[in-house]
Order: sequence, then C-alpha cells, then structure tokens
Amino acid sequence: MTDKRTIVRSVGGYLPARIMTNEELAKTVDTSDEWIVQRTGIRERHIAAEGENTSDLATAAGRKAMENAGLTIADIDLIIVATTTPDMTFPATATLVQHKLGMHHGMAFDIQAVCSGFVYAMTTADSFIKTGLARRALVIGAETFSRLLDWTDRGTCVLFGDGAGAAIVELADKDTDAKRGILASALRSDGQHWNKLYVDGGPSSTMSVGHVRMEGKEVFKHAVGMITDVVYSVLETSGYTVADLDWFVPHQANKRIIDGAGVKLGIPPEKVVITVDRHANTSAASVPLALATAVADGRIKRGDLVMLEAMGGGFTWGATLIRW
Ligand code: ACO
Repeated sequence: MTDKRTIVRSVGGYLPARIMTNEELAKTVDTSDEWIVQRTGIRERHIAAEGENTSDLATAAGRKAMENAGLTIADIDLIIVATTTPDMTFPATATLVQHKLGMHHGMAFDIQAVCSGFVYAMTTADSFIKTGLARRALVIGAETFSRLLDWTDRGTCVLFGDGAGAAIVELADKDTDAKRGILASALRSDGQHWNKLYVDGGPSSTMSVGHVRMEGKEVFKHAVGMITDVVYSVLETSGYTVADLDWFVPHQANKRIIDGAGVKLGIPPEKVVITVDRHANTSAASVPLALATAVADGRIKRGDLVMLEAMGGGFTWGATLIRW
C-alpha cells in the first residue's frame, strides 16, 4: 500500500456542434420521440462533422480541462484516451491527441473497455501516478459512435451519440490535499457476455469496421446488478456507505438503467447526475461529460464525495469513489 493519493484537478467536455433530435431521427427510421424518451430518456444526440474525428473531440475536451486547471501541455506527462472508435486501427488515438496538443514528452496510449473506458482509464492513471510512472495525467473518454451505427437498425441507432470528456489527475500535495482524491476503485469484466453487445467487424476477423449489434433486453437485465456490485465493492473498500455519497455520476446509457441502479442502491434522485437526455450514450465519453456538466454548473464542489460508475460491452464494468 502507498500513502500517495491521486486528485482530480479539473474536468472539461466537448460536444460536436450538430444536434440530431429524436424527431429528426424519426424521419429516417420507424421510431418516435415518445418511444425514445419513454424507453431511454434520450431527447437528442450530437453528431461529429465530416472530417471531425475522435482525436479532434478528445483534443477539444483535453484543452478545456487544461484551461479549467490553468495548465499547459508542458505540465502533463501521460495521456490516456478511452475509446471504442479510434481514428485508425493504429496508432493509438492518444498519440494523435498528443501530437495535436504539441506534446513530445511523456507517454500516450488508448484503453478499450467500451462504455466503461473512462473508469478503466482513471483507475489506470491513478495506478501510474501512485507508482511514480507519471505525475500528472490527461484522462479522456472520446467517441464518434455515430460511425459505428447501422442507421437502419432502430434498436440501436436511437441510443448513441458523439462527444468527449476529460479530466486532469495528479499526485496530491500531502499538506493541501490531505483528504481529497481517488479513494477506491473496482474494475470487472466477464467475456462470456461478449456477444450481447459488440461490433460485427474488426481488422482481424473481417478486415472492416462493422456495426453495433446489441441484445438490448439482455444488456438491461445485467446492467443494474453489475453496477450495484461494483458500487458496493468500492464503498466497502473505502469504508463509506451509500448515505455518505454527495453525488452519483453514472454512465449515461439509458435513464431507465440509471433509475434502476439508483433505486436499488437507495440513492435519492436529486443526488444523481443525468445528462443522457442531451447527448445520448456517448460510451467512454459519457461519465466525464456528466462530470464536466455537474462541476461547471456548481453542483459538484470541493470536498464532495462522488461515485462514478460505468458498464458496457465485454461486459466490462467498474466504479471509482472520489473525494472532490
Ligand atoms: N422505436 C420504436 N420502436 C422500437 C424501437 C425504436 N427505436 N426499437 C425497438 N422498438 C420496438 C421493437 O421492435 C419491439 O416491437 P414489437 O413489440 O412489435 O416486437 C418493441 O419496440 C419493444 O422492443 P424491446 O426491444 O422489447 O424494447 P425494450 O423495452 O427492451 O427497450 C431498449 C429497448 C431501450 C434498447 C432497452 O432494451 C434498453 O434500454 N436496453 C439497454 C441497452 C442499452 O442501454 N445499451 C447501451 C449500451 S450498453 C451500456 O452502455 C450499458
């Protein structure tokens, strides 16, 4: 064990300019605003412009986080990008972000854990910082999920959107940051569920990109149990209870899943941050986008106890508890 602690110094988000409403979608697929809102809580999603790639969204969110922290790229020595929609099969999107930000030192790599990617990336950055491999990291979740969608499949295309969110995490100062930081994390995966939510293509299997395929009911069935499992695990490790939480910042996949997890955990709705209505499921970007919203509007404040959680393809799932 180490007495080192990783604190979150700032967050930032970016959504592409173009908004696609449910009504607009209903003109091209057999769906309706009413169906989408009732089953998912989603009202609109943002779609990246032609030529605007995941690395562009990630770079914009990263810049915002640096601006909010009063830092420049010279102050960062690790970039992690969690994404399922890399610009290219290789190199890692994180190295493209590194290039766009003008960083030539340190290291950059991607993490692929689908919707759980940001929680995995924060936990990885936390471990790198605690072991001394890095001092200050830019952790980004970024997706152009619209490019993986089969726009004729109403069961999936209504659910997702594009966006990016970022956090800067750094080694805590023992004197000034004594109680702050990442207190505990739990990460899980179980590959037996891979075919309940996957993309039917890839460089090794089909030499193509493929489209999202999902057994929605199966995902729903597992989601609430998996989320509560990791949340309880993190609370137990850190010695806190649900009642101690100030904010619950869940993966923004579907309001019904969020509500289900909130009810099962006994977290009052006013402590739950929900942004899925405005950007749909942005996979690895959803948790940092929700965080950035709640920090910017003043809900999450210094000293608050904040629980992040996510669950997605693999299945993968995880949670992180942070003293803000
Ligand atoms: N518009 C209108 N009707 C639709 C649509 C749509 N977009 N999609 C499906 N339907 C129809 C179906 O065809 C079906 O019609 P039928 O009864 O005539 O056969 C009917 O609606 C009910 O379909 P179900 O699939 O049973 O609908 P369900 O209530 O399960 O809701 C949903 C579907 C919203 C996908 C739900 O299963 C769900 O939320 N699953 C979780 C999936 C999720 O959030 N995935 C995100 C990635 S995973 C993650 O991030 C955690």
